[in-house]
Amino acid sequence: MVQLNTEFAGRTYHSPFMNASGVHCGLHKLLDDLVGAEAATYVTKSATVEKRSGNPDPRYYNSDQNSLNSMGLPNEGVEYYLDYVTKDPHSKNRLFSISPMTFYDLPILAEKINASGFDGLIEINLSCPNVVGKPQIGYDFEQMAAYLKAANELFEPHTYGVKLPPYFDFAHFDTVAEILNRYPIAFVNSINSVGNALMIHEQQTAIFPKHGHGGLGGAFIKPIALSNVHAFHQRLNANIEIIGTGGITNGRDAFEHILCGASMVQLGTVLAQKGTGIFKIIENELKAEMAKYGYESIDDFKGKLQYIQENDAISGASH
Ligand code: DHB
Repeated sequence: MVQLNTEFAGRTYHSPFMNASGVHCGLHKLLDDLVGAEAATYVTKSATVEKRSGNPDPRYYNSDQNSLNSMGLPNEGVEYYLDYVTKDPHSKNRLFSISPMTFYDLPILAEKINASGFDGLIEINLSCPNVVGKPQIGYDFEQMAAYLKAANELFEPHTYGVKLPPYFDFAHFDTVAEILNRYPIAFVNSINSVGNALMIHEQQTAIFPKHGHGGLGGAFIKPIALSNVHAFHQRLNANIEIIGTGGITNGRDAFEHILCGASMVQLGTVLAQKGTGIFKIIENELKAEMAKYGYESIDDFKGKLQYIQENDAISGASH
């Protein structure tokens, strides 16, 4: 019997699948849908101290299995999402995403979360690529270290994690892992959308903000996501867990993320395109993929990526 139940950050989940922040989670009724669709859990839309309307439309574009977005952090403000999670009977298993717009927002957000009594997990978004005039914190290592140091003083150990942008260089994997390993963080979420890509429809940019530049998601970014999940799996302290996000469109993609070291996986573009019915479908696809290799549980293959050896033949692959 193939089982999908999994442990993450000291909590138990019936499957590894949840939404990626930003997708189907900005309003209470959308969070209700995720619960109704039996996602393992949900993460709320990245909240700022105040409500924001975000960037002007058009700001989201679908193309085949990919997407480009420059939403600009539209959200109802931190209190609105706290109101939802604190009334949720499974609050301990939920993820609450925050996006400090400045360093000084972090203690304000933390104070509100702590005062609410929320007992779940906090995802600190260090990687939003879409706020005009703001660089991604995850690409400024000094700033990132300062945020981690502050977070460690504001939140209880092992209750918070960070959402990272994609990295493309081994020196960056090393530096980021070294900063993260200083603190008792519960998890790392890799990756956010690939920042500042551009798509063209006919002769026009597909989205309006920033001359068409926005975060790329979907099937295109899976290999980048896998590299980041695996590089951090190799470098992070063993008790820091990984959420794999990026380019998961089917059960095979989820299998690959878990093989690279992910404990949970998030669905972004595919959830936006197919709706919440995807959770049941993808659960069954992952079970089928596990059965194919004789695995009965997530732990049987989590992080057990095999490295091809010199002169090995690649079975069934074209090259
Ligand atoms: C938005 C996009 C992101 O990738 C993110 O991490 C947070 C917010 C947005 O544009 O709303």
